[in-house]
Amino acid sequence: MKKILELKNLKKHYPVISGVLRRQVNSVKALDGIDLDIYRGECLGMVGESGCGKTTTGKVIIRLQDPTSGHTIYHPESNGLPADISSMSRRAMKKAGIRGKLQMVFQDPATSMNPRMLVKHIIAEPIREQVRLGSRELEDRITGLLELVGLSKSHLLRYPHEFSGGQRQRIAVARAIAVNPEFIVLDEPTSALDVSVQAQILNLLRKLQKELGLTYLFITHHLLVVKYISNRVAVMYLGKIVEIADTRDIFSHPLHPYTHALLSGIPVPDAEHKSRRMILTGDVPSPLNPPDGCRFHTRCPFVTDQCRKREPLLETVQDGHKAACHRKSEIQKQLVL
Ligand SMILES: Nc1ncnc2c1ncn2[C@@H]1O[C@H](COP(=O)(O)OP(=O)(O)O)[C@@H](O)[C@H]1O
Ligand SMILES: [Mg+2]
Repeated sequence: MKKILELKNLKKHYPVISGVLRRQVNSVKALDGIDLDIYRGECLGMVGESGCGKTTTGKVIIRLQDPTSGHTIYHPESNGLPADISSMSRRAMKKAGIRGKLQMVFQDPATSMNPRMLVKHIIAEPIREQVRLGSRELEDRITGLLELVGLSKSHLLRYPHEFSGGQRQRIAVARAIAVNPEFIVLDEPTSALDVSVQAQILNLLRKLQKELGLTYLFITHHLLVVKYISNRVAVMYLGKIVEIADTRDIFSHPLHPYTHALLSGIPVPDAEHKSRRMILTGDVPSPLNPPDGCRFHTRCPFVTDQCRKREPLLETVQDGHKAACHRKSEIQKQLVL
């Protein structure tokens, strides 16, 4: 499989400024060194509790935000040279034709769309940035995009507030695919929608992925959504990836205790399973001062001295299944979902 993106020790620390001298006193380690390969055509799910750095990861990858350090290597589809986009200026990215290739769709289309713009202009905006089209041509292209996402020409001259949440998300998707992207970060794209509408949007995203050959990074805290849509899943905890594997493997034999805890939160109809549930205690520690050693050690029922002292690496266990836990092999034997 061909890589589209390669993240190397990518970090994003937000400075915390305080005092009359406006000095930096600390930093929020939102994203604290992740290594990740994303393959062309896959849907990579990303899960983890609120505040663990999922949105930051998406924004830093596509350069809506600048990373603090680390690298993001973009591999072009044709046999062009790989480019490190972590340090490229936005103008250089545009010139190299990379800007439009990386897009993002947010959870709440109501806030990511200008309420005073007509749908036609919302979708035209990214297209105008890339190519010059006559008004007729532009309108045809926008109509085509609307039809692709299940809307129609009759929606061109309406404002966002005239649509339902699901329809607004369709408009956001149309805007994201308007400039023929290769990679889209979908940040909780269905979390604000009614359950019945969620399924429609998920099916639309799946259809578009297939038809347009897209690669997705699908961020959600909803595990069943990830199970439905992703080929692989990365589990994040406090700015780090703690486990990554094929979706099947994550759900059938998770190796990290945190993944176990997340999966235990999914209601299982079988009463026999209840005794094996692992309930997480304590709050997520602050990303201002993450715990030493393994970041999960303050909440982990399997904690040992080693876990408090040394940070575990994200290591391959088998077939691309990686976990960052000192006790992964013992846990694999003990915990059965
Ligand atoms: N612009 C910002 N300035 C300071 N801190 C931020 C900013 N954006 C996010 N954070 C902090 O970074 C951490 C990760 O946030 P985020 O990436 O939004 O997590 P998630 O999407 O997983 O909920 C949180 O502690 C959040 O408060
Ligand atoms: Mg988020």
